[in-house]
Amino acid sequence: LYFISVVFLPLSLCPLSPRSNQSSPRVLQGDISALSPAVREFVEANVTLCQPDSIHICDGTDEENRTILAQLEEQGMIKKLPKYENCWLARTDPRDVARVESKTVIVTQEQRDTVPTPLEGGVSQLGRWMSQEEFDKAVAQRFPGCMKGRTMYVIPFSMGPVGSPLSKIGIELTDSPYVVASMRVMTRMGKAVLSALGTGEFVSCLHSVGCPLPLKKPLVNNWPCNPEQTLIAHIPNRRQIVSFGSGYGGNSLLGKKCFALRIASRIAKEEGWLAEHMLILGVTNPAGEKKYMAAAFPSACGKTNLAMLCPTLPGWKVECVGDDIAWMKFDNQGNLRAINPENGFFGVAPGTSAKTNPNAMATIIKNTVFTNVAETSDGGVYWEGMDQALPEGVTITSWKNKPWSSEDDEPCAHPNSRFCTPAGQCPIIDPLWESPEGVPIEAIIFGGRRPEGVPLVYEAFSWQHGVFVGAAMRSEATAAAEHKGLFFNTVGRQT
Ligand SMILES: *[C@@H]1O[C@H](CO)[C@@H](O)[C@H](O)[C@H]1NC(C)=O
Ligand SMILES: *[C@@H]1O[C@H](CO)[C@@H](O)[C@H](O)[C@H]1NC(C)=O
Ligand SMILES: *[C@@H]1O[C@H](CO)[C@@H](O)[C@H](O)[C@H]1NC(C)=O
Repeated sequence: LYFISVVFLPLSLCPLSPRSNQSSPRVLQGDISALSPAVREFVEANVTLCQPDSIHICDGTDEENRTILAQLEEQGMIKKLPKYENCWLARTDPRDVARVESKTVIVTQEQRDTVPTPLEGGVSQLGRWMSQEEFDKAVAQRFPGCMKGRTMYVIPFSMGPVGSPLSKIGIELTDSPYVVASMRVMTRMGKAVLSALGTGEFVSCLHSVGCPLPLKKPLVNNWPCNPEQTLIAHIPNRRQIVSFGSGYGGNSLLGKKCFALRIASRIAKEEGWLAEHMLILGVTNPAGEKKYMAAAFPSACGKTNLAMLCPTLPGWKVECVGDDIAWMKFDNQGNLRAINPENGFFGVAPGTSAKTNPNAMATIIKNTVFTNVAETSDGGVYWEGMDQALPEGVTITSWKNKPWSSEDDEPCAHPNSRFCTPAGQCPIIDPLWESPEGVPIEAIIFGGRRPEGVPLVYEAFSWQHGVFVGAAMRSEATAAAEHKGLFFNTVGRQT
């Protein structure tokens, strides 16, 4: 086993109308009395708190998916992209475009259980802590009545294949149908998950866009959000996640960063495994020998492109198990095995092209929800670095819904615009990607964006040295979090 540090990866090589004060909302779908007592209590208590108009328990069927997508279209939150099959475009409120790390907190008894005690007056760069009292106050300020006039969706979801011994189950309550449509792609969700859960434990997730009806202010782009009050909180002791005010990706699809990385790393610590921000890929050499590797990179540093690499060396083959998160555990024989807990890719669009990632391009032409990319007049999508000539007469509308030309100063797609697409559609998805016991990991790659100062690639001497090198890695800020996309220039290329 060895570590390689890929520093600054060369991506170009291959990158309802409001109702009265009635206390029990209408149930539009599902049967609350059929839920396990713990799930039922969780749902009912939060219904009382959030006061939705109606409740919809997601079953994961295609019919439900069609209904949800149709509803989103009716509300003007998404539009169909006729150039492709079952593809959709969402444009958010420009204030809600990325994860908000400044408002993402961990609630523990002691601050040092979350972050090292910062120097006097300083703020920790490693995370944010909130006390239980402050958190209770924040919830009391935000959640009472926050779903008035809206439907509360109950989403039972499995991170990892349903029923795998490495998988974990969560239940997300949300008032956003966009979250339902996206969670359907990113996780296994619906009836089968409730059956697998039985009376077992689950991670409870509560999400609200924070815009009860009737609205106090008009929406921007028909995208409900509440940036002033945004808060994403994790309570690891109780395995709970609470998110308010943002409808965007990592802030609202609570199975991903909140559960599969943050809460899972705590569950993993207790149970003796690892939840890591790593892609997983399989590499086969010309002799037909195959090895699996995991690779850790911050967001928007090329994980998706590396996970779907097209080797230029003759006879070599790369297959993709996952592009973002790895759950790893040693088996009885002492081999490290990994699963991808996700069911889809929530990839950064700019920089993805037929040249940098032909496999991603082939994956996203059906059943995909795009967010904040630009649109072409012939019903397709467009972004910086797509490197595709537009047909004669075809024009571009930017992510801000304005006519756009290449002379404009602003990019046509937001630097953190995304595609949300089913992993099973990837042409090089690994045959074992859903294997319940996971794939054997034989190397770990650590990487990031470094414009200068370190070699492009080097190998650690030993596990000990590898741990040191991995722990000492750093990377430039990216557009995936709220910091400015420092290293995207105006054509969106990752430099
Ligand atoms: C609902 O509110 C109205 C006035 O807002 C009040 O007269 C009525 O008693 C309330 N009904 C219930 C069931 O609380
Ligand atoms: C929605 O359902 C259709 C079939 O009805 C399916 O092909 C597709 O994968 C689903 N779309 C999404 C975005 O999940
Ligand atoms: C609502 O859900 C959150 C998130 O899991 C949980 O912390 C909270 O206890 C629930 N609220 C009630 C009143 O049960």
